[in-house]
Amino acid sequence: MMEYKKLGQTGLEVSSLCLGTMAFGRWIDESASKVILETALDHGINFIDTANFYGKGQDEEFKYGTGESEEIIGRALKGRREDVVLATKVGLPTGRGRNDRGHSRVHIIREVERSLRRLQTDYIDLYQLHYFDPNTPMEETLSALNDLVRQGKVRYIGCSNYAAWQIAKAQGISERLNMEKFVSVQSEYNLLSRGIEKELLPFCESEKVGVMIYSPMARGVLSGKYKNRSDAPPESRKARGEELIKKYFTDENFKLVEQYQDLAQQYEVNLSQFSLAWVLSQSAVTSAIIGASKVHHVTDALKAADWKWSKELIERVNKIK
Ligand SMILES: NC(=O)c1ccc[n+]([C@@H]2O[C@H](COP(=O)([O-])OP(=O)(O)OC[C@H]3O[C@@H](n4cnc5c(N)ncnc54)[C@H](OP(=O)(O)O)[C@@H]3O)[C@@H](O)[C@H]2O)c1
Repeated sequence: MMEYKKLGQTGLEVSSLCLGTMAFGRWIDESASKVILETALDHGINFIDTANFYGKGQDEEFKYGTGESEEIIGRALKGRREDVVLATKVGLPTGRGRNDRGHSRVHIIREVERSLRRLQTDYIDLYQLHYFDPNTPMEETLSALNDLVRQGKVRYIGCSNYAAWQIAKAQGISERLNMEKFVSVQSEYNLLSRGIEKELLPFCESEKVGVMIYSPMARGVLSGKYKNRSDAPPESRKARGEELIKKYFTDENFKLVEQYQDLAQQYEVNLSQFSLAWVLSQSAVTSAIIGASKVHHVTDALKAADWKWSKELIERVNKIK
């Protein structure tokens, strides 16, 4: 059974699995993307994550957003828009111009209009800053986002790849200026990358900031499909040339993967489900964003969504080094 949680301090209910759409229009075509999206919705996932950056331009030498993922979602959601909580992002480059990136008022307002057009909707449920921009005053960014909420173009605002102190600073500014606050943060977290346990997760739990986890399966390394550092099975993300997966390809990680795989077998689940269920077992986590390039990635994840971890299993995982 799918679990639903409130997103941070809002009254908005989101499924504990969020469908990530970074593959749409980039590694998989429109019809494959549509089937994945429909499968997710038909099984109770009501939360979709995209970005103006997701599309073919991510694999160009100069990486920039070409918007294919948003376009596909816009067409696929016809007639079902109100069934979903639609989250997108702004901030990464959309072109080579000096103002084609970042969190300036100019860039944000231009890009929200483009996202709305591609998504074929007149509102975005959750509008997120893709990363922390140290070169724009936070007051300017928050005031632009606040205007978008007041204009009805955006319902809630969130951030991504922010440290705890950066969210705390933003919340202070919003409080002081009586503006909208970030309701959520997106962060990378999985059995091979646990850095946010120190600061971000306790901070979000204490301040009731919603936490959306990306790469819960370490971009596929925690599916067990890669056996060693040079492995790249056909149709895998490694074979498709994703840059960011490479950081997980270390001898230490492959040793960890083997141990997690043994443990997963003892509990009669596959490693992908085991890894995803571990992320969902963390109390600070609202939702895990699953990346899917095949329908079975979604159906496998659904089986992990309601698996409750025992204290004993969490302790066993924590002992693995
Ligand atoms: N805010 C940010 O900066 C940021 C960054 C990255 C991602 N995101 C968001 O988070 C989403 C998820 O990230 P992610 O794709 O890195 O997540 P992930 O869940 O760690 O990796 C997904 C990949 O794992 C493999 N996989 C998943 N289930 C599997 C199964 N049952 N069996 C075998 N392989 C399986 C597939 O790899 P193959 O395709 O190789 O088969 C799939 O594409 C993205 O779509 C995006 O929406 C946000």
